[in-house]
Amino acid sequence: MHRYILLVDSRFAGYAKKELRSFFGERCGAIDAIDGMLLAEIDVEPDAMGDEIEGNRFIFVYAAVPLIGTCAAKPGDYGALLSILEENLDRKKSFRIEVLNMKANSGTNAKSIEVKLGTSLEERGFVADLSSPGMGAYVILTGNHAFLGLESGKRRSTLDWFRLSVNKGGKGVSRAEFKLEEAAYFFGIDFRGMKRCIDIGAAPGGWSAALAKTGSSVLAVDQSDLDYDAIRKLGVGVDVVDSFDMKDWKGVLHLKKSAAKAVGEIIGSGIIFDMLMIDMNVEPREAAEAAVALAPVVRDDGTLLMTIKLVDHRVHTHIDTAMDRIRGAYSHAAVRKLPHNRREVTLYAKKG
Ligand SMILES: C[S@@+](CC[C@H](N)C(=O)[O-])C[C@H]1O[C@@H](n2cnc3c(N)ncnc32)[C@H](O)[C@@H]1O
Repeated sequence: MHRYILLVDSRFAGYAKKELRSFFGERCGAIDAIDGMLLAEIDVEPDAMGDEIEGNRFIFVYAAVPLIGTCAAKPGDYGALLSILEENLDRKKSFRIEVLNMKANSGTNAKSIEVKLGTSLEERGFVADLSSPGMGAYVILTGNHAFLGLESGKRRSTLDWFRLSVNKGGKGVSRAEFKLEEAAYFFGIDFRGMKRCIDIGAAPGGWSAALAKTGSSVLAVDQSDLDYDAIRKLGVGVDVVDSFDMKDWKGVLHLKKSAAKAVGEIIGSGIIFDMLMIDMNVEPREAAEAAVALAPVVRDDGTLLMTIKLVDHRVHTHIDTAMDRIRGAYSHAAVRKLPHNRREVTLYAKKG
C-alpha cells in the first residue's frame, strides 16, 4: 500500500471517497478526510497514480501526490518539515516546492514559506529549478500541521488554482474565466486555433472575452447585458445584436436573447463552430438540451464545454441526466469538478 494526499473540494469529499472506493475496490485501504484533502492508502504505484487521476476517471479528485510525511509546522518554525524534505529529496535531481496553505485565502503566506524552504534546501546543497524540476515537493498546511508529498519527473501546473488566479491579477470580466483555464488543463483542451465559438449563458462575458482574446470570433448568447466596458478594457471588440445574420465578425458578438429564442437563428445561419460553451444557470437537463439542439452547428470533432449546475443535493442524478441527454450527439464525455466550480461540475465532450 502507498499513502497518497488527494486534493478535493471539502464540500464534495464524501463523493470523492466513494469514487476512490468504487474505482480501486480492494486496492483502497483507509481514507481520512482533512479539510480539502483525503489521505488514502491505495495499492497503486506512484508512477501509475498520476495517470489514474489525470485520466478523467474521477470527477471529484483534482490531484494525487505520494505522501512522504507529516509533522507539526508552527508559523516560523519549519525545522521538522525541512528534515522530512532533506531525507526524501534526491540530491541528484533538481527540485521545486509548492506550498498550499489550506487556511489562507490569498496564498501570499504560502509564497514566503516556499521561498524560506527553498533557500534553506539550497543552503544544504540541493538545487532548485522552478521551470523543469526533476522532483516536485508539496507542503500542504492545515493549521499548525503539515502534510508533505513528493513526486518525480514531471511538472504539474499547480495544486493551488486559487493562488494562481490571484497571482494573475484577479478576474478580467468574471471569475468564470478561471474555469476555462482549468478546463484546458484538466481536459487537455487547446483553445488556440478555435476560429468560431458559441457561448450560451454568456453574461457578464468572462468566457467570451477569454476566447476572443485567443483570436476566436465568439457568438455570445444571453438575455442579460454583458459587461461591455470590462470586455473592451481587455482589448476585445464587442457588438450587440438582436438577431443573428452575420457571417463574419471579430471579437464578441452578443446576441441578446435567451437560448431557446436563439437556437433557430444560429442553425439557420449555416455557420459551423469549433466549440460550443454553455454556462447557463439552469437545470442540467435544460443545458444539455441546448447542447443537443445546437449540435448540428458544431463541427465534427468539435468541442462541447458545459457546466452542470448542481441545483440540489442529487449530485449524481444531475450528472447522469446531462450525460444521458447529450449521448448520441456527443462522445468522449468526461465530467470533473474543477477548482473554481462551486456547486457545479464541468462536462467536456467531443462531437461525433
Ligand atoms: C453563471 S452566468 C455565466 C457566466 C459566464 N460564463 C462568464 O464567463 O461570465 C449564467 C448566465 O446564464 C444566463 N442564462 C440563464 N438562462 C438562460 C437562457 N435560457 N438563455 C440564455 N442565457 C441564460 C444568465 O442570464 C447568466 O448571465
